[in-house]
Amino acid sequence: MKIKGFLQDVGGADRVTSLRRETINNASATPDPKDHIREISDRVHPGKKTYVVKEIRDASPSSKTYRLSPKDGIAPVFMAGQYMVIHQNIGQSVLTRAYSISSAPYEALSENGYIEFTVRKNRPYLVPDHLEKNLSVGDEIEVDLPFSDFFYQPLRDSKNVVALAGGSGITPFVSMAKEVAAGKLDINLTILYGSVKHNDIVCGDELSAAEKKADGKIKVINIMSDDPEWTGEKGFLSKEIIKKYSGEDPTYFFCGPRPMYELISGILKDMGVPGKRLRYEAMQQPGDASQIPGFPTENIGKTCHITVVRGISETTIEARMDEPVAVSLERAGIPVDCHCRAGECGYCRAKLLSGDIFVSPFGDGRRREDKEMGWFHSCSSYPKNDLRIKVPII
Ligand code: FES
Repeated sequence: MKIKGFLQDVGGADRVTSLRRETINNASATPDPKDHIREISDRVHPGKKTYVVKEIRDASPSSKTYRLSPKDGIAPVFMAGQYMVIHQNIGQSVLTRAYSISSAPYEALSENGYIEFTVRKNRPYLVPDHLEKNLSVGDEIEVDLPFSDFFYQPLRDSKNVVALAGGSGITPFVSMAKEVAAGKLDINLTILYGSVKHNDIVCGDELSAAEKKADGKIKVINIMSDDPEWTGEKGFLSKEIIKKYSGEDPTYFFCGPRPMYELISGILKDMGVPGKRLRYEAMQQPGDASQIPGFPTENIGKTCHITVVRGISETTIEARMDEPVAVSLERAGIPVDCHCRAGECGYCRAKLLSGDIFVSPFGDGRRREDKEMGWFHSCSSYPKNDLRIKVPII
C-alpha cells in the first residue's frame, strides 16, 4: 500500500509539472506589476494601520482598557504576549508609546475582530493621561503591531509557564490567559501577580473569568505588598512564593517595572534557574532618572541644548538632562521611531556628533559596531552637556 501511495505522489508531481509548464507557456510577456506575495504579507503583517476606538472601559480604578477595530476590517495577526506601538499627535509633538496587547489573538481573528490595550493613568511622559483625557469612542488612532518575541514558543519553552507580573505588567499575561482559556494555547499557566493593594489589580475580572473557564490550566495568585484587608498571599514576589507555585521545570516570563526585574532575576539566579528559562519583556526607563544606577544625580532638574541634524536641516532645542534624548526630541515635535523605549530594539538610534551622554545600564542593547561608530539609542540615553546629534528622517 505504501508503495502504491508513493507512486501516486510521483504521478501527482508529474501533473503539477505539466500544469506549471502550461502556465509558463501561456503567461503574458508583460510583467505583472502586482506583487501578490507582498500583498498577502502586508495584509497579515501590516505596518502602521488605522483603528477605530470601539469601547473604553475601566480595567481597575486606575487603569482603562481601549478596544480598537481595524478601519479596513482586516485584523492583524499576533502572538499572545506581544506589544503594539500607538502614535499620538500631542501639540507639536509626535509621540509613540508601546503597550502590551491585552486581548487574545483569537479575538482579533474572530468576526468583527479587535485588539485591546490597557493603560495605567498618572504615568510620566504625557501619553497615558493624554489618552485618558482625549481619546473617545469613535476616534481614530494609528497603531503599529506586533513587536517582541515575548510569547510562548514550544520548541524553546517549557509547557509549564510561570508568569511573574507587577502593576500593569500583567497585560501580556491577560492575553495569554484568554488564549489558554479558549483552548488556543496549550500551556499550563501560573500567574504570580504582585500589587500594593487589591484595588490596584489590573484586569482582575478578566483573569478570574479565564481561570474559571480554563479547567485547571490557569492559576492566578495575587500577592499584596501593603493591604491589611487581603487574606491571600502577602508581601513581595519572594523566593518562597515563586518556589511554592513553580511546579516542575518551568519557563518564567517576567513583565513589570525595571527595579522589580532586577530583584526577580536575582532570585531566579539564586534558585539555579538557567538563563534560557527566563524570558522578560523590555521595560521603558524609570520616569524618575535618579532610580537608574550610576545616573549623574547632579543633572536632575537641569537643562541643556541639543542641536539636531536631520538631512540638511539643523535645529537647536532645549532639553532636560533627566529625560531621555528621545523624549526631548518628541517634545520639540521631532518624530522618533520609538518602539520598545527600553534601549533594546535600536529603532530610535541617533548618532552623537559631539557632547557626552549617559547611557542607562537598564537594557543597553547597542551593538558593538554601533557603539564604535557613535550611534546611541535615544530612548535610553541622557544628555550630560550640550549635544550635537544626527537623527534619521522618518
Ligand atoms: S525604542 Fe527600542 S531602543 Fe529605543
